[in-house]
Amino acid sequence: MAIVAESVRRYSTFFRKSQATTVLDYGTGTMRNALYMAEQGFRVFAADLPEQIARLQGCSAVDHVERLMATDELTDSHLNVDLVLSTYVFNIIMESSLRHAYAKNAVANLKPGGYLLMEVRCRQPGAKCGASCEEFFSCAECSKTLTHNELDALLNPHGLRRISHYYRSHAVSAIYQKL
Ligand SMILES: C[S@@+](CC[C@H](N)C(=O)[O-])C[C@H]1O[C@@H](n2cnc3c(N)ncnc32)[C@H](O)[C@@H]1O
Repeated sequence: MAIVAESVRRYSTFFRKSQATTVLDYGTGTMRNALYMAEQGFRVFAADLPEQIARLQGCSAVDHVERLMATDELTDSHLNVDLVLSTYVFNIIMESSLRHAYAKNAVANLKPGGYLLMEVRCRQPGAKCGASCEEFFSCAECSKTLTHNELDALLNPHGLRRISHYYRSHAVSAIYQKL
């Protein structure tokens, strides 16, 4: 199994202590975070784009989650989870309307007082824009990197308030709480 996202590993104890039990891994990819949280005893829903869900069908990882869902199911699912995980998803969604749709779906499936944990690529001060930026978006000019202030500007209008964040070399992680 791929190693869990650093923010999920770091904050999982906080979420357990906060009485969180249900989790939506939104943009689950290969399900690394979903599996980790299931192993930690959380009840996990995992969602991704329909094409990624089709790839995951039949994988043994699917047996460990409550439900595997295509993103179009999230508009009406009202999962009422305690926690939404979003790692390296928001920074690859480029269109503003799609970002807002993503945030709206996250909030619609989160209970009041629930948490959104977001980990995204952050800016690398002084880094030069090069060919690798097409995939890794590592320089300050690339739009596929975000700061915690930019996350606030995108997520505050959805009724999410940041309660914690930290930076490490290439990423910023932040916890938001639904008002
Ligand atoms: C870089 S991967 C990260 C996967 C996983 N969160 C992780 O950290 O391992 C980005 C994932 O986001 C998914 N994705 C892209 N756009 C999305 C959207 N609008 N809604 C939900 N998932 C999306 C992709 O299909 C892909 O699985």
